[in-house]
Amino acid sequence: MSIDDEGPRRPLSPPPRPPGSALAPASLAVHLGRPPRSPGGPLNPDIVLSSTFHQGGDLMYGRDGNPTWEALEDAVGGLEGGQALSYASGLAAISAVFECLPVPGRVVIAADAYNGTRRYLSDVAGRGRLRFRTVDIADTEATLDACSEVAAAPGRPSGAPGSFGAGGLLWLESPTNPLLAIADLEALTAGAHEMGLDVAVDNTFATPLLQRPLDLGADVVVHSATKWLAGHSDVVLGVAATRRDDVLASLTTRRSLHGGIPGPWEAWLVLRGIRTLDVRMQRCQANAAELAGRLRGHPRVTGVRYPGLADHPGHALAARQMSGFGAMLAFEVVGGADAAEAVALKCQLATAGTSLGGVETLIERRGRWSGEGDLPPGLLRLSVGVEDVDDLWDDLDAALS
Ligand SMILES: Cc1ncc(COP(=O)(O)O)c(C=O)c1O
Repeated sequence: MSIDDEGPRRPLSPPPRPPGSALAPASLAVHLGRPPRSPGGPLNPDIVLSSTFHQGGDLMYGRDGNPTWEALEDAVGGLEGGQALSYASGLAAISAVFECLPVPGRVVIAADAYNGTRRYLSDVAGRGRLRFRTVDIADTEATLDACSEVAAAPGRPSGAPGSFGAGGLLWLESPTNPLLAIADLEALTAGAHEMGLDVAVDNTFATPLLQRPLDLGADVVVHSATKWLAGHSDVVLGVAATRRDDVLASLTTRRSLHGGIPGPWEAWLVLRGIRTLDVRMQRCQANAAELAGRLRGHPRVTGVRYPGLADHPGHALAARQMSGFGAMLAFEVVGGADAAEAVALKCQLATAGTSLGGVETLIERRGRWSGEGDLPPGLLRLSVGVEDVDDLWDDLDAALS
């Protein structure tokens, strides 16, 4: 058969509606970031391996842009309801947001936010570029008090009034890593804005399928896409998303200047992971809810933190601002640090190791990291995967016993 024998080309159905359309997030996750539908064309974006682009177009050099990143950014931006930029890692996205602040920046941050974020802040604060204070973000009043102190603090930063972070930045994470505290995103964002602070939310634990901070008023949202978005423990990448043109422009400039760009392979892998995010999350969170309930009844477990449990202090709030409780939980074991380490290492199915968000269950005593601060010594964090829940329970039960 020659190439001419194909017959008339049939028109294809129209592409899925753009972000903001009536499509459900599960459908958007499958369809955003694909090339236009054309007969014979590929379903997936190319992995564009080029540092240089022909002169005359918008894209000239690989530190400023890449078509594979753009496909991923279309997908994450659509899911978060903003415009997204991808970075070399979650921490590269996080530091890019802080780099947008005028000097000296003024920051209020969750006391149990991801320890890498707090270590980054300590590093830049030590060099005089910002000041930060930590708060219990589950305590809305205390957090807003901290914001008002920042707003009233003497010493104006160098940024123009109204520019991002000129009045300070409230950095939220909800649920927090690893204590699973829940912040009232809407109330905190509204209160912080009233006092002139901007608000950023690390949405790594929830993912945009369970929580959309930009809808709740946040100015910018960040992800360690290494985790749930990618979902297979095979890539490191970060994303920031915003609806504000000024923030997008500042983040774009900073990414080009600082060079914290992702690789095209990594961007493609994260986009492939996003295709199954909804089914993975459904399975993982159903497993997490089941394990949380069973762990609570275990004689060697003294406390379980999972926002889906009715007695979790943030349960009602999480039910209001999230469409699911996620698949992260933490629990404390009798016997403190040594006992907890032993449980993690005895697990045969769950893997003792750091990170989270993969299809495989990971277990870790977070207190083993020096930067973690004041955690209960026997606290184990569980990132629940897609394995059979009874197999997971047998494994945990055996390790605990
Ligand atoms: C909540 C949270 N945010 C950010 C990060 C940093 O992401 P990355 O490791 O991709 O730099 C992590 C990493 O564990 C995290 O758990």
